[in-house]
Amino acid sequence: MGDEKTQQMWIIFISTICLLSLITSVSGVLCPNGCKCENEVLRANCSGAGIEVVPIQLNPELHVMDLSRNKITQLHYTFTFYEKLLALDVSKNRIKNVGSGNFKTQKVLKSLNLSSNYIDSLTKDTFEGLKELLQLDLSNNQLESINQNAFKDLHNLTVLRLNGNQLDYFEDGTFKSTPNLETLYIDDNSFIEIPSSLSDLVRLKILSVARNLIEVLEDDKVPNLHDLHTLVLVQNLIFEIQPTGLASFPKLDHLDLSDNNLTVLPTAQLAKLSKLTNLKLNGNSFESIPPVAFRGLFHLKYLMLNRLEYLKTVDARAFVDNINLEKISLDYNYNTKSLPTRLFHGNPKLRFVSVRYNSIKSLVASHFPLDQLSELRLGGNPLDCNCSMGWLWKLLHESMSQTKDNNSYVQESPNPKPVLVKKSNDLKLDVNEVMCETPEELHNIKLFRATQRQMDCSMSWLAILSVSLTVVFILGIIAGVFFFMPKKKPKKTIEKDIPKIIKTSYNAPPLPPPRKSLPNSDAGHIDRYIMPPIMLQNRALPIWDPYEQQCNGGGNIYEQLNDHRDRPHIVYV
Ligand SMILES: *[C@@H]1O[C@H](CO)[C@@H](O)[C@H](O)[C@H]1NC(C)=O
Ligand SMILES: *[C@@H]1O[C@H](CO)[C@@H](O)[C@H](O)[C@H]1NC(C)=O
Ligand SMILES: *[C@@H]1O[C@H](CO)[C@@H](O)[C@H](O)[C@H]1NC(C)=O
Ligand SMILES: *[C@@H]1O[C@H](CO)[C@@H](O)[C@H](O)[C@H]1NC(C)=O
Ligand SMILES: *[C@@H]1O[C@H](CO)[C@@H](O)[C@H](O)[C@H]1NC(C)=O
Ligand SMILES: *[C@@H]1O[C@H](CO)[C@@H](O)[C@H](O)[C@H]1NC(C)=O
Repeated sequence: MGDEKTQQMWIIFISTICLLSLITSVSGVLCPNGCKCENEVLRANCSGAGIEVVPIQLNPELHVMDLSRNKITQLHYTFTFYEKLLALDVSKNRIKNVGSGNFKTQKVLKSLNLSSNYIDSLTKDTFEGLKELLQLDLSNNQLESINQNAFKDLHNLTVLRLNGNQLDYFEDGTFKSTPNLETLYIDDNSFIEIPSSLSDLVRLKILSVARNLIEVLEDDKVPNLHDLHTLVLVQNLIFEIQPTGLASFPKLDHLDLSDNNLTVLPTAQLAKLSKLTNLKLNGNSFESIPPVAFRGLFHLKYLMLNRLEYLKTVDARAFVDNINLEKISLDYNYNTKSLPTRLFHGNPKLRFVSVRYNSIKSLVASHFPLDQLSELRLGGNPLDCNCSMGWLWKLLHESMSQTKDNNSYVQESPNPKPVLVKKSNDLKLDVNEVMCETPEELHNIKLFRATQRQMDCSMSWLAILSVSLTVVFILGIIAGVFFFMPKKKPKKTIEKDIPKIIKTSYNAPPLPPPRKSLPNSDAGHIDRYIMPPIMLQNRALPIWDPYEQQCNGGGNIYEQLNDHRDRPHIVYV
């Protein structure tokens, strides 16, 4: 009974088609209301036409069909007649179920867009027949899982968008048949790790996993992606990268770890990425950028370190390994009050430096390699505009007059002589953003508006004289103190050696402090560590003191403790 009904339906259906194609061949293409049919280029555009079903009366030779922004709910048997389609866009409709085998005849389709529908499942036959498909967009649907054979025919697929679904895993083998995939977007899902089944994607170049729930990049769980050059992990919850957590991406060129929960710069982990040129670490929780923080990243060109809310200190040698650095941005690090001078002097290729909206009060010219930079941004810092900012004031004025000269120059003479334009090194500054916080009379005033007098540090002869006198006086006092200071003979030998020890501990990498081997299994010795010092007073001498060598042993422990206390004085004098 059902069979008969379907048969009837099919007859009506097919005769309608015949009729329609007849009409079509007689009077060109029948174009539904709201659609735009461009027959010469074999394109039909029904975007936003308000249609509820896929039109079946269009030119069967069509190459491009745009059905986006409509109210289509299902696709059953609708594309059978359009065998020559190259691009099909059904995005922003109301499709829940894509069904099975609905694209069987689309053997040459290159691009299929199903984004922004309500698709919640894919069967093993959903994409059957799409052997030449290059691009598949399934973004912004409601997929929770994907049949592991759903992509079995998509040998040629190069770009797959699955962002904006509710995926949290891929079954093993999901990507077994798509070895040509180069770009995969799985942002805005619920992954807690970079899915290990991506290992099948031997040609993957771009992987975007932003806004998922990844907390740790674990050593053994990260897929091997030898060709990957771009990895985006923005806005996850990453607080730890295990030692080899990044080692399976040897060709990585661009890494974005912005807006995660890293508290320590993953120096050693990043050092595995020797090809990296572009690194973004904005919005993490680093408190400091230690010496050689980007060790081994010799190819690094662009480094973004913005919005590091907790960043207080940047080591003067932080970027010494990054000899190819061209552009660095340290904006909105509100807790950074100062930068070490000469921070960038090991970066001969640096052209762009931005340090906007930090809490820096004072800057000196040696903070930046001014003669090599082409752009410097310093706006939004609470500058103390005393005369020591004169260099910047001058630079701002130069930059302004340069712009002005340039303009008037261009207006005045039709063929400019390059000599004039190139005279100074064309340093661009954010002139209008560089503001003063103090002193009172310059509060909230742009630095370049300060007067020359306010920026003049030269002192009157009287001032110079009084300063020199003060210096002489202080030196006199110090000399006197040294001269009359009682000499502590017995400690002489100690004095000589300690500074050496202290010094080594300031060098990087820090050497372990000199250590005496601990007493081995001798039980009597162990007592010494457990018993209170009074009991030990008359025993033979402990090995605690690292400087014991100089002490001739034998002394009582209180004397030795006193020694310890005295030493810092000796060191700092
Ligand atoms: C169809 O038309 C819309 C505007 O109505 C346009 O945005 C869209 O790009 C067109 N599609 C194609 C495939 O040309
Ligand atoms: C698919 O359609 C959406 C919405 O119309 C659009 O934003 C997206 O760029 C399209 N995808 C591709 C790969 O063209
Ligand atoms: C699709 O893949 C086949 C072999 O798998 C290959 O011959 C063909 O050139 C590919 N087509 C495109 C457009 O890449
Ligand atoms: C991660 O960082 C975000 C933003 O900095 C913060 O709101 C969140 O509490 C942190 N989560 C954890 C688990 O530390
Ligand atoms: C200018 O201000 C800075 C920061 O407040 C201070 O360190 C510096 O000594 C001042 N220089 C002069 C010449 O007053
Ligand atoms: C200065 O002039 C050059 C060409 O002579 C032009 O390319 C450049 O944009 C000008 N700069 C400004 C800031 O106007």
